[in-house]
Amino acid sequence: MHEQLERSPSRTVAEHGVDQETCDKLMERVDRRMEELLSAEAARWGAVDARAAVPVAAVAELVAAGGKRLRPLFCVTGYLAAGGAAAGGTAEDTVVDAAAALELLHAFALIHDDIMDDSATRRGTPTVHAAFAHLHGRNGWAGESRRYGEGVAVLAGDLALSYAYRLAGTLNGPAAGMWHELVTEMIVGQQLDMALAAEAAADPGLARWIAVCKSGAYTIHRPLALGAAIAGRPDLEPVFAAYGSAAGEAFQLRDDLLDAFGDQAVTGKPTGLDLDAHKMTLLIALAAAKDERVARIVRDGRGTDWDQGALREALLACSVRHDVEERIDVLVADARAALAGSALPAAWRRRLEELADSVAYRDH
Ligand code: IPE
Ligand code: IPE
Ligand code: MG
Ligand code: MG
Ligand code: MG
Repeated sequence: MHEQLERSPSRTVAEHGVDQETCDKLMERVDRRMEELLSAEAARWGAVDARAAVPVAAVAELVAAGGKRLRPLFCVTGYLAAGGAAAGGTAEDTVVDAAAALELLHAFALIHDDIMDDSATRRGTPTVHAAFAHLHGRNGWAGESRRYGEGVAVLAGDLALSYAYRLAGTLNGPAAGMWHELVTEMIVGQQLDMALAAEAAADPGLARWIAVCKSGAYTIHRPLALGAAIAGRPDLEPVFAAYGSAAGEAFQLRDDLLDAFGDQAVTGKPTGLDLDAHKMTLLIALAAAKDERVARIVRDGRGTDWDQGALREALLACSVRHDVEERIDVLVADARAALAGSALPAAWRRRLEELADSVAYRDH
């Protein structure tokens, strides 16, 4: 990759500092873009009937509740690191739309994920399905509260996906291909996540692949490559693939550690859900491979609940947490190495190094 860029000087990215002001300005535009779209939709459907606007409002509330905005940040970073500020024309509008599309896609993924994982809280507030199941029960409406709550959440997620596609509609060429790929791989990754949990199949290789596919790719690798493609640099894809798959896996491994050992007051989502749902995270797969007690709990727990207390104790005793931390360190080093061999400007390489640290060593 490096060689190829060196041989064609016209395709190297001009050296410049990190333009924080432009980055912040684009990120503000991304938030405004989502707010405008969602409030226009809420007004349009609210005029038909207040009940018609319910799923739009649910998406808007989730977006307004915050989150780290990682996907838009990586998209905007990919765009600027690839020299996008000089691209001119409609590229800036396109990257704002693409970054907003990524955050709405994420909203879709989270709303549906919380149904699949039976989670009660997200970003410190009740999940969509839990909130509407509660509303249904409180009002004594007909039918099952759980089914109603999940129904509203399915539709809210579908709407978020539909708005994401609407915003991604301006993408063309390689950027359009990347968008379709990232949506598909995330959904396929979610299927594997569920399937391995159901089958209690402890497979470290597959667990790592799932981390990349269901989460790392749509969070880091693809948003960076998408931003670069919008800036006219689809050739930067291999650098961002190498950096993004390593940093993306580290991001998801941290998420798995936070699920097992984190503080829900800080993460804004419940602790221990992966263990409740028998998720075959790398943490569990490695622990089952190295510790007979964990392997037995996982094996014996097929079809029944895992013995949570015993499992936690065994996880701590076999120090698998340390193994996953080491794996995260290796991945962060791999992400840095991918940047070192690239033609990206030094200032943007440093920024990407900082971002890899911030996703790998976060507490929420
Ligand atoms: C949570 O993503 C879901 C995963 C892919 C692990 P984030 O950790 O980026 O969640 P928010 O957007 O900050 O809430
Ligand atoms: C979810 O992974 C990934 C997607 C939303 C596609 P998790 O199930 O681990 O995410 P959290 O922990 O609920 O945020
Ligand atoms: Mg999940
Ligand atoms: Mg989940
Ligand atoms: Mg998780």
